Amino acid sequence: MKGIILSGGTGSRLMPLTRVTSKQLLPVYNRPMIMYPLEMLLAAGIKDILIIVAPDHAGDYLKLLGSGKEFGARFTYEIQDKPEGLAAAFIIGEQFIGSDNVCMILGDNIFEDDFSKTIKKFKKGAHIFAKQVPDPERFGVVKFDSKMQAVQIEEKPKTFLSKYAITGLYVYDNRVIQAAKLAKPSERGELEITELHNWYLAKHELKVDIVEGEWIDAGTFDTLYRANQIAYRKAHKKQI
Ligand code: TTP
Repeated sequence: MKGIILSGGTGSRLMPLTRVTSKQLLPVYNRPMIMYPLEMLLAAGIKDILIIVAPDHAGDYLKLLGSGKEFGARFTYEIQDKPEGLAAAFIIGEQFIGSDNVCMILGDNIFEDDFSKTIKKFKKGAHIFAKQVPDPERFGVVKFDSKMQAVQIEEKPKTFLSKYAITGLYVYDNRVIQAAKLAKPSERGELEITELHNWYLAKHELKVDIVEGEWIDAGTFDTLYRANQIAYRKAHKKQI
């Protein structure tokens, strides 16, 4: 299993914090944000990790994370020239992934749960993770049937679909590269990860688990603040 941390983007919602640095390098309590998703991949035993970054901050990532030796891993870096969508990661990362399966995590996502067993057990298809949120329209949303099988997935639905947002942790078999190449840019000009999920859903090969613990997409001021609280709580084993 190869790992990808998608850490490009513009971070426009966190301006001016992101005027001179990358969102995923901002502090979350006592560490840069990207360390949390990195830890998740390392905990799952993934040692070969591609870090995709925006051109402006590539040097800063290299300085922070280096070759990966310090973490018992090997890091590869790729630059995404423009934020053309989450699914673009599998085109940028095609050579890196080779013929392996791949686990991708977004550089601004922080999870309380431990997914290491689930990731290690993965064999085939796609395995993603959803969480009930008050503002699902900000995310890809999944609708379940009465047996909690995924039946429909939509990116930022305009009308209510369900309260289940798809979180920024994804595990795919090697066919994800093929699915990403088939994807067409959406109205907002991005290769949407939702297209990949629909590709697997149509083949009945999409598994969606529910996230039990807290999940933070630290892309806004309020969620960044919350991420700091959770990291503090974890570090001090306190309830907040
Ligand atoms: P977003 O939070 O959707 O985008 P952003 O980080 O550019 O922020 P804003 O909307 O405030 O401008 O992205 C989620 C994660 O995915 C984040 O870690 C950045 C990353 N990303 C990329 O690396 N490349 C991309 O093309 C996109 C769309 C996101």
